[in-house]
Amino acid sequence: MDFSDKRLSYEKGALHEEILPQEPFAMLKQWLNEAIEQNVPEPYAISLATCGSDNMPAVRTVLVREVTELGVVFYTNYLSHKGQDIEQNPHAEALFFWHDMQRQVRVRGAITKVDRVKTEAYFQKRPYESQVGAWVSQPQSGEVASREAMDEIFANLKQKFPEGDTVPTPEFWGGYEIAATEIEFWQGRANRLHDRLLYSRASTQDTWQITRLLP
Ligand SMILES: Cc1cc2nc3c(=O)[nH]c(=O)nc-3n(C[C@H](O)[C@H](O)[C@H](O)COP(=O)(O)O)c2cc1C
Repeated sequence: MDFSDKRLSYEKGALHEEILPQEPFAMLKQWLNEAIEQNVPEPYAISLATCGSDNMPAVRTVLVREVTELGVVFYTNYLSHKGQDIEQNPHAEALFFWHDMQRQVRVRGAITKVDRVKTEAYFQKRPYESQVGAWVSQPQSGEVASREAMDEIFANLKQKFPEGDTVPTPEFWGGYEIAATEIEFWQGRANRLHDRLLYSRASTQDTWQITRLLP
């Protein structure tokens, strides 16, 4: 397949330094709200990049569940491939891409586990079958013999944790928070002269610097 003749001109918006808030989270929330208003499907989905001690980057989609005063929170299996990467190298980068809005946002920083109380509160809000589903992946990213074997594990777990009872939060499952030290807002513009504005700070204690990057 060859897509080399396919191109779109990006003309849906612009980013000016004058309209930027001093800190990036107000801006991120504004763009998320605009994506929600425009009915972007799953606007809180991110591509999450990690890199373990093998130096091999790995990327996958996860759903952001919260924007905090530090960064973004998502939930996953701590024993998964990503969990092992994070154990070995506690840094990550997340990318929101809202195609219809010709926008992307990159969030980079150190990553830590969310405290257990918060994880359990979130797990207990999930639908019953998602709760049981989390127990199936022991570990997530591990090999399973067949679809049938997996369905059988799920059925057995439903018997072990009947609907209506509290499904315990697996100790191998929980939240991570990326504490941002870089957040870049990208707005597509005509002629490939896109707007790229980078908020950066040396640590989460510092104030944000704003820099315009070449596209
Ligand atoms: C739209 C979408 C949303 C997803 N959300 C999550 C999520 O919130 N948490 C999660 O662990 N996996 C989620 N996944 C599955 C991951 O992409 C991935 O397959 C899984 O976490 C295992 O990744 P790993 O082997 O790199 O650790 C989602 C996948 C898609 C396509």
